[in-house]
Amino acid sequence: MSRTETDTLPWYEDPSPGTGGLAPRPWYATSDAWRMSLNGEWAFRLSPRAATEDESFARPGFDASEWGTVAVPGHWVLQGAGGAPAYTNVVYPFPVDPPRVPSENPTGDHLRTFTLPGDRPQDGELVLRFEGVESCARVWLNGRELGDFKGSRLPHEFAVGDLLNPGENVLAVRVHAWSSGSYLEDQDQWWLPGIFREVTLVHRPDGAPRDFFVHAGYDHRDGSGTLLVECEGADGRVLVPELGVDIASGASVTLPVEPWTAETPRLYDAELVTAGERIPLRIGFRTVVVEDGVIKVNGGRLLFRGVNRHEFHPETGRAVDASTMRRDLVLMKQHNINAVRTSHYPPHPAFLDLCDELGLWVIDECDLETHGFVDLEWRGNPVDDERWTPALLDRAARMVERDKNHASVIIWSLGNECGSGSGLTSMAEWIRGRDPERLLHYEGDLSCEDVDLYSRMYPTHAEVELIGKRAEEPLADPELDARRRAMPFVMCEYGHAMGNGPGGLSEYQRLFERYERLQGGFVWEWIDHGFAHPEHGFAYGGDFGEELHDGNFVCDGLLFPDRTPSPGLVEYKKVIEPVRIGPGSAAGTFTVTNGYDFAGLGHLEFVWSHEVDGTVVASGTLAVPELAPGASAEVAPDAASAGDGLWTVRAVLAGDTAWGERGHVVAWGQVETGVRAVPAPAAGERPVRAGGLITLGPGVFDAATGVPVRIGDVPVEGLRLDVWRAPTDNDNGAAWQPDERYGLRWRELGLHRMRHRVDAVEADGDALTVRTRVAPAGWDLGLRTTYRWTAAGGRLGLTVSVVPDGDWRVPLPRLGIRFALPAAYGGARWTGGGPGEAYPDTRAAAMLGTWEMGVDALQTPYVRPQENGARADVRWAELTDTGGAGLRAEGGTPFWFTARRWTSEQLDAAEHAPDLVAGDRVWVNLDHALQGIGSQSCGPGVLPEHRLGAEPAEFSFVFAPLG
Ligand code: GAL
Repeated sequence: MSRTETDTLPWYEDPSPGTGGLAPRPWYATSDAWRMSLNGEWAFRLSPRAATEDESFARPGFDASEWGTVAVPGHWVLQGAGGAPAYTNVVYPFPVDPPRVPSENPTGDHLRTFTLPGDRPQDGELVLRFEGVESCARVWLNGRELGDFKGSRLPHEFAVGDLLNPGENVLAVRVHAWSSGSYLEDQDQWWLPGIFREVTLVHRPDGAPRDFFVHAGYDHRDGSGTLLVECEGADGRVLVPELGVDIASGASVTLPVEPWTAETPRLYDAELVTAGERIPLRIGFRTVVVEDGVIKVNGGRLLFRGVNRHEFHPETGRAVDASTMRRDLVLMKQHNINAVRTSHYPPHPAFLDLCDELGLWVIDECDLETHGFVDLEWRGNPVDDERWTPALLDRAARMVERDKNHASVIIWSLGNECGSGSGLTSMAEWIRGRDPERLLHYEGDLSCEDVDLYSRMYPTHAEVELIGKRAEEPLADPELDARRRAMPFVMCEYGHAMGNGPGGLSEYQRLFERYERLQGGFVWEWIDHGFAHPEHGFAYGGDFGEELHDGNFVCDGLLFPDRTPSPGLVEYKKVIEPVRIGPGSAAGTFTVTNGYDFAGLGHLEFVWSHEVDGTVVASGTLAVPELAPGASAEVAPDAASAGDGLWTVRAVLAGDTAWGERGHVVAWGQVETGVRAVPAPAAGERPVRAGGLITLGPGVFDAATGVPVRIGDVPVEGLRLDVWRAPTDNDNGAAWQPDERYGLRWRELGLHRMRHRVDAVEADGDALTVRTRVAPAGWDLGLRTTYRWTAAGGRLGLTVSVVPDGDWRVPLPRLGIRFALPAAYGGARWTGGGPGEAYPDTRAAAMLGTWEMGVDALQTPYVRPQENGARADVRWAELTDTGGAGLRAEGGTPFWFTARRWTSEQLDAAEHAPDLVAGDRVWVNLDHALQGIGSQSCGPGVLPEHRLGAEPAEFSFVFAPLG
């Protein structure tokens, strides 16, 4: 792009941030200044192209009676007003020719009239404020152009006092789906044009501040807070009644305070009072620094147990209402999450008020990503081209000025995945100058030149451990290397929560707890961005006919799109629980460790129970002494309860809080003693051949194949070795993963179409032995599999021996048996891990107990169907009909139990949840072992200890008919 070229470009392609607007200032929810919402129904017209020449709609008197309407805030593509959402991750969905955009540039003309009320203020200025418009807007009031702007998730204001009519006013906004700003907004999410946040007319009275900046530090050495509120454009007083503070703006006061932390979000209600406006403030005192290579708040190291949060609602996209924002935060708090990275743009400003109030550490990230340049080797990258620097600086300023008064925001992030460049350095310099009291983050530049922390996404456990030891691979430049090596480390993204998973969280957590430098991370990501869809249940990339898209990569959250927690969230909650409960040194005692960074345990109550064979025989409370962060104590129950069994201790909220009710479980631990000896497969009875059948105890077998057809009165079908699972997103891995994409390799091998050759059916002695070879067509590898059936006392024993043949270079998806029962046996009960699903590397949250639920409830409804629903560590499982008749299976060793109303093949073939239709069978998998899950849909694969190698194995079950 040459200078002359950009000079003649239309405003929406010009790389400048905009024209005609006011300087940025803070957002605040209320004040006594008058304001008027312009949300609601607006007239709307969609054009397929950016027809800049016709601006007649902006003129008063324009007849829009033929137009449709849209709700503001909202995205027109989600309101049946034309167009559709489109999803791409990295790639720009248009030719890359910055700052130019396609001629096919959907353009939404928005129009509304409003009448100023009679009591409107007469003094000062009236300001028209937009909280967020994607991707750009040009604005007219009563036919007069106010200006234009880019920077979708940032506020923009215009002074409009002179232009307002006493009677009716006409506000016209032209929004283009694409603009030069789109090059800066290549975040991995749906492209969703529209006025998606509020529009407000705000009074700026005479004598009101133009800007104010709250500085509230905390000195942990003496417990004092220092408050200073800078105020621009007016003199004011700062009142903090609870502290007896009444000082002038610009003056500071130091006095004893209670500090703010995410664990103890102590806010002081205050007011900034100027001649023209009284502004309520909520002040949290805290100081964040990097000291001795560690991030410290109020003198203490903190550990981020974080998530990346995009704004998303399955019906309204990034137009997220206040109750949904609160719901997100309440869910986070309930799941022990203590930090949010606002990936990858500043969220709705009210969200940060809630973070202050409920207590979350926040990395506030600027609305900036240019990832699509990566495949062009970063040619033309706007962050390395000075013509874009004004736009970058504008974005940095709009974020910092808007959000600077929040205690929760402790780190500014320059943006995401932009490579490196001087534009980023300029942003960093500006932010440091304006707000030296917070830290700076940016992940995309490994040299860390501009920032205070070393941050990475998706490193392996092994690399994280090296970093923890400050022993990572050096940077080429020794000076930069020394600087980086002295920095604290966070993972701004890890644990890719796409589909089933993420696996390996516990192992990361152990590293964070071992190495001081490792200050935790932010799981990617909070919620699946699946749109509610009449046919697909939840839609993902490609479901709207996009020419380019990235499929279900947009569904990679810990919440399903409807905000139901996925098993991944339940697992994360357990992995990051802030209290650890384990066995004590003497039988019947427990060790309790305070894992909070700042808080004591006074808000918790510890309740214990003692269960024997699924029945609680005793329960009570544990008196846990006050423990400082990091401290442990050994405690004994308040009542004696002798004998073996299962001991469970739960740390629960002792009283109601803003985010959880009394009794809400924060953490738990279990100790099992005197584990029962495993039942040997029954033996004693002899197989009897008659006709085409063999009978052995309760089992009836097909004499030709040796496959059972009945156990007692329960028809059994297709019982055989099973190694296949419907590959998870993490099995399949991302396209850029170098190897280990086992989901693909399993399919290449044909593990989904194994043949079962019957070599012998031997009914002699007290066993029925069936020798088989299980192998895929086209390959010379296989699994020699022997089923040995025995029976005694109405029970049927099965021992399966598996010996691999040939050169198996891949782990197996699973190793166990599967069979079908009639659909009526749809009730499940088991003793083992529960209540939710678990896999070898996602099993921290599986609590031992006796659980009961219908087969339908065993399913996890991943947006793209895939392997799910296994229960870990199962000792026995039963499937019964409504009358209690059915089949029981006990494991020789604990096993994995899965039951569903479709086969793994049907699960594999399904693309959306509604594709799965219950058939007339319940398909049951009893697995000796499962391959772990890992995080390879974006991050590292399954750790070696969780891989299921093809090796000789033997496992057994005992079946008994019930009822
Ligand atoms: C990261 C990126 C995120 C998201 C994630 C994968 O590289 O920062 O925006 O794309 O990968 O889901």
